[in-house]
Amino acid sequence: MTRQGTCPVAHGPAGLPVIGDAIPYFRDPLTYTLRMQERDSVVSVKLPLPFVQVTEPEAIERVLRTNPDNYVRGKLYRGFSGVMGSGLLTLDTDQWRRPRRAVQPAFSPERVRGNAREAVGAVEEVIRRWTAHADSGVVVDVAPDLMDVASRVLGMALISRDLSGTDYARASAIANKVIYNRTIMALPTMIPAFVPTRYHRERRWANRVLDDIVHGVIRSRRAGGECGDDAAGQLLGAGLSEAEVSDNLRTLLLAGSDTTGQALAWTMYELARHPQARRAVEREVDEVLLGQAPAPDQLGELVQTTAAINEALRLHPPVWQFPRDAVEPDSLAGREVPAGTTVLLSVYGTHRSPEHWSDPDTYDPRRFLDDTQNKRHKHAFLPFGGGRRMCIGKGLAMATLVTAVAMLSQRYRLRLSGTHTVRSGHYVTLFPSGGISAVVQERT
Ligand code: HEM
Repeated sequence: MTRQGTCPVAHGPAGLPVIGDAIPYFRDPLTYTLRMQERDSVVSVKLPLPFVQVTEPEAIERVLRTNPDNYVRGKLYRGFSGVMGSGLLTLDTDQWRRPRRAVQPAFSPERVRGNAREAVGAVEEVIRRWTAHADSGVVVDVAPDLMDVASRVLGMALISRDLSGTDYARASAIANKVIYNRTIMALPTMIPAFVPTRYHRERRWANRVLDDIVHGVIRSRRAGGECGDDAAGQLLGAGLSEAEVSDNLRTLLLAGSDTTGQALAWTMYELARHPQARRAVEREVDEVLLGQAPAPDQLGELVQTTAAINEALRLHPPVWQFPRDAVEPDSLAGREVPAGTTVLLSVYGTHRSPEHWSDPDTYDPRRFLDDTQNKRHKHAFLPFGGGRRMCIGKGLAMATLVTAVAMLSQRYRLRLSGTHTVRSGHYVTLFPSGGISAVVQERT
């Protein structure tokens, strides 16, 4: 029985007994997402866990903003806890409010301005490295350098420590894979932990690296008697237990750098492929910055640069899907969703929906500059989520990205290696699989 005025959710393919449609999904989940979206913007699939994929902005708004009490983090997010502990990302039913309130001052506009200055230093370091091989014609993978920018800024914002060039980035990438495997894939995790597979070895190593960072900070702050005003300091100063501080720091360390580093890599990649968009960014940074590094106050003036980043976030949303479980039955865009349903909000599918984006697969930052953006549903673009659990690091991420794209565009152009096509890798985040091979050229 459905409620009056609603209809049942459309079904995806039944697939095989037990495993459902797992094979085509795991072969290429991004294509699968778009194929299911063609069936409906609220559609049930079985992989083998059953869930409802949602790409309808009105339905997304209901889950995140207008009826959020009905949607808990749920079964899939439980898989995150084994890696992140019980931190802000995984906590539910009001338990999230205390750590969110505690750490919020570390993400205030004033702090973000300081982080933007840190980003200038981080990009200058990359510029020093790139100067060494610019114009040599040598093809390099630029992705690790871009990841370093994110690691340095995030490390300073969270624990006042430069984490670039340490094991942190690799540990974070491994954690990203482990979380995905624990939640959606569940395959390598079926092998008992004592079996010395590469997967388990890497998982343990990454865990140790993150533990050392987190416990090192907590120990040294307690020993020094001063909490500090970074994220670690705010958590320690709010009187949270040692476990709460540690789990929340771990969560922030894992949520912040892969996402930002990948967004930067995707933006530089798309600008390298789209000369018109690249020239618009170059013109803007030349006119606004007059050859200087951006001051925090100038970031808002860099509208072409911001549009170039938003368009990369649309096509390659680092967090490409995230789940909730329905507590009570609900209606999502006219479809009946029973209690207990796992809804998977597909950022990727929503961002490529032909109903909400014209020519959705084309990179065109102008769509974030003209007035079509005012006509679009607000939840058709959700790289940072939405509602009260919207990403806490959005300001920090955008300040880092605008600073980095602007400074790199002042100096360099990337010429992609002709033989190298960048495909999307996908764990919890979408990443340029195999990196971004390019020749770095000085702008003349
Ligand atoms: C481009 C970079 C980033 C992207 C695309 C991104 C994306 C997201 C998304 C989609 C969510 C919502 C998840 C949900 O509702 O289930 C989220 C939440 C979160 N993000 Fe980010 N994020 C980015 C950067 C950061 C940074 C820099 C930090 C921290 C320093 C961070 C920390 C968090 C935390 C703690 C949450 C959970 C907030 C809560 O539930 O109250 N993120 N992020």
